[in-house]
Parts: sequence; structure tokens; C-alpha cells
Amino acid sequence: MSENKIISGLDIGTTKICAIIGEYDPKKNIYKILGLGKAPSLGLKRGVIVDVEKTKQSIIEAVKLAQKRANIPITGVTIGLAGDHIRSLNSNSTITISHKGENAIHDAEVDESDVERVLSSAKSINVGVDREIIHILPQKYHVDDQIGITNPIGMSGNKLTINALIITAAINNVKNLVRSVQSTGLNVHGIILEPLSSAESVLNEDQKELGVALIDIGGGTTDVTVFQDGYVKHAGVIGYGGSIITKDIASLIHTSFDEAERIKTNYAWASTLLINEDDKIDIKVKSLNGKDEIKLDSYQLSLYVEARIEEILNLVKEQIEKYINIKKLSGGIIFTGGGALLKGISETNFKIFGVQSQIGYPNRLPGLNTSNFSPEYSTAIGLLHWAKNDSNNQSITSIDSDAKIWYKLKEFLTKIIKQYF
Ligand SMILES: Nc1ncnc2c1ncn2[C@@H]1O[C@H](COP(=O)(O)OP(=O)(O)OP(=O)(O)O)[C@@H](O)[C@H]1O
Ligand SMILES: [Mg+2]
Repeated sequence: MSENKIISGLDIGTTKICAIIGEYDPKKNIYKILGLGKAPSLGLKRGVIVDVEKTKQSIIEAVKLAQKRANIPITGVTIGLAGDHIRSLNSNSTITISHKGENAIHDAEVDESDVERVLSSAKSINVGVDREIIHILPQKYHVDDQIGITNPIGMSGNKLTINALIITAAINNVKNLVRSVQSTGLNVHGIILEPLSSAESVLNEDQKELGVALIDIGGGTTDVTVFQDGYVKHAGVIGYGGSIITKDIASLIHTSFDEAERIKTNYAWASTLLINEDDKIDIKVKSLNGKDEIKLDSYQLSLYVEARIEEILNLVKEQIEKYINIKKLSGGIIFTGGGALLKGISETNFKIFGVQSQIGYPNRLPGLNTSNFSPEYSTAIGLLHWAKNDSNNQSITSIDSDAKIWYKLKEFLTKIIKQYF
């Protein structure tokens, strides 16, 4: 009998909501994507839900599509959390290692209960009444004077210290997120900070060890995650992304958001230095009233884009430099998210950060490494990694039987009802 699990995630982004259903084989540690569903996101601003009802409708649409493609119904999801209300702070804590056994007076050995105690002690900091802790990410442990230990279990000593990164979020924003999902009838199996999710699908262990900054440029937010020596050194969210570039274009040339988005994704470059006189492309755009035609070329368009993308990347730089010297990130900069598809982003990156960059594709999960998914799916695909540890996951065999039949029947009946009523 198969022990494979059905795992599912929901990336509630500012421009799109993406539901993903996958299968995880714990024996081989292999993932498979069974269904992806995408729907326009209408109820978010800068990564935060501002309209629960609209968000609910988009979630229903995305989940329905994913279920249809996977031919599997789901009952719960692991969800991604973002928004510029996310904060990270360092917490250090020390406990006395407990002495176990009869003759253990002299050599106390760190076990799982000590690690749990030191973690919960690091967690007991005051984060404010309107905030809650989403993650506690261990960085390094120290056992007496032995410093920089990744896994202290089994080590002898008296005192165990942890350096941890604590991620907090505004309680109300988390509640709205959970409410939107639950209102669709789905259970929330877990909440994962979106930058951590993208990191799992995009980065490899060497990059995390050498030092790398993952920049996920979405629609309403740009997520920044810095890894060094294998652990998360910083995770933060900036409340700007590709949507503000689209808005700039729309307001500067007096066109609709849809037209602005179309010309941005087709003709814009992150840097005007990359456009030669001969390469300029003439663009025709419909005016706001839909009757007139506006003419501009790809150089003029890129001037608008250049100004804003440089501003966003400078905010990212400012944030990273509070925690680490960027030049020390031997793994460089990795761009992901839909905004990473902006032509010429690597060149602008070099101008601002002075280190090399690459586009990060979500192909790091075992089993998915041969597929070519767009960087806009990095968060959704990374959620599968986190979802696999959930104890609520259903086994594929239980789904195969009754639920699958019921799902097919429901789909069939819905079609009939739509046809006749
Ligand atoms: N080819 C392209 N060139 C430039 N920008 C692009 C391109 N393709 C997509 N984008 C931009 O990527 C952004 C959407 O990215 P993504 O799907 O990762 O965002 P999201 O997850 O919905 O939002 P967020 O993560 O901020 O909540 C949009 O602003 C879109 O214009
Ligand atoms: Mg996103």
C-alpha cells in the first residue's frame, strides 16, 4: 500500500492566488505536482488582505482549478504569509542543561528536551500585544565555550545558549488571512512566511552555506531573505513590487493598468543602458478612454521602469546592509517572483549591489528538478516542502477511493445543474 501523502499549499499573493496540490513520497523523498490553479487576486494590497470576501472568491477559483487538474479534492492547505507588517529580530537565550540518569552529576548531555526548553525560552520575549510569533529560526547554539554549533544534541556541558531569529507578524493580518481561507471551507494546516517558502524551492544548500540574498519581487511586495553559514540571517518584506511599476506607467502615459502591464511585460527593460538606438521598439498603447492611441518607444518606457526598480532595489540594499556586508555573500543575489522576469534585472542588480545575480527558478525540490516552472511559482512550490510535515495530510490511498469518486460526482452534478438551471 502506498504511503505517499497528498500535500497542498496556497500562495495568497497581491496579483495572483495560486493553489498547489502535490504528492510526496516519504520513502524516496520525492515530490510531484498534481495540480496548479491560478486566479487573479483582487482583495490584497502590499501583501495584506484588505477585502476578505474578494480574497475568498479568488481562493475558491484557484483551489477549484487545482483540484480539477489534480482530480483530487483537498480539505486543508498550508498557507504563505507576507506583507510589510512582518518583522524579524534576534533573540539569545541560555538554559542550564539538565542532568539525566543516576550518575550523571558531572556530564550533562544535551538532549531534545533541552533544545525544546532553550527554544521556548528564546520565544518568551515581548513582541507587543498586537503581534504574534510566526517562526523561531535557530541560527547557532553554544554549549559552554564551544560556539557556533549547528546541532547540539549529544554534546556535554552545563549551559546551552541559542541565537535565534524570531519572525513576528501583526495579529490582525494573520487573522484575516486565516479567516479568508477558512471561509472557503478549507482548514489551515500551517502558516509559513513566504520568503522561507520561496527559499526552499529556489536555493540549494551550497548557496545557503556560502551566503546568498534571495529577492522575491512580487506584485505588492518584495521579500528579502539572507542566508549565511546555512541559516537564515534575515527575513523581511518591503511593501513594493512590480505593481507599483505598472501603476507608474499607467499614470505617466494615461493608460489602463491592463495596458500598462502588457507593455511592461513585453517591452520594458530594467535599465535604459541596455537599449541601443537601433533596438528601440515603437509601442502603441490604448489611452484610458480606449479611443485614442498613445505612441512611445521602449526606451521611454524603460526610463519610467528604471527609476522605480532602482528605488526598490536600493530599499532592499539598505535592508540587507543592516545585517551583513553584501560583498560577503559569495552566493550572490538570486531574483525570483514574477518581477524577476523584468528584462535586464541582472545588470541593474550589478549596478546597485556590485555582486553577481541569477534568476532563481523553483526547481530545487527533489523530483521537480527537471521541470521549468516560472519564478512566479516559487512561493507556491516551496509551500509543498513545508506542507509535507503536516500531520493532517491525507494518504493518497484514502483519497483514491471514496473522496475521488465523490469529487467526480460533485463536478458532474455541478455541470448538470449549470446546464439546466
Ligand atoms: N515578464 C515580466 N516582466 C516584468 N514584470 C513581470 C513579468 N512577468 C510578471 N511580472 C510582474 O511580476 C509581478 C507578479 O509577480 P508574482 O506573481 O510573483 O506576485 P504575487 O505573488 O502575486 O505578489 P506578492 O508576492 O507581492 O504578494 C507583477 O507585478 C508582474 O507585472
Ligand atoms: Mg508572491
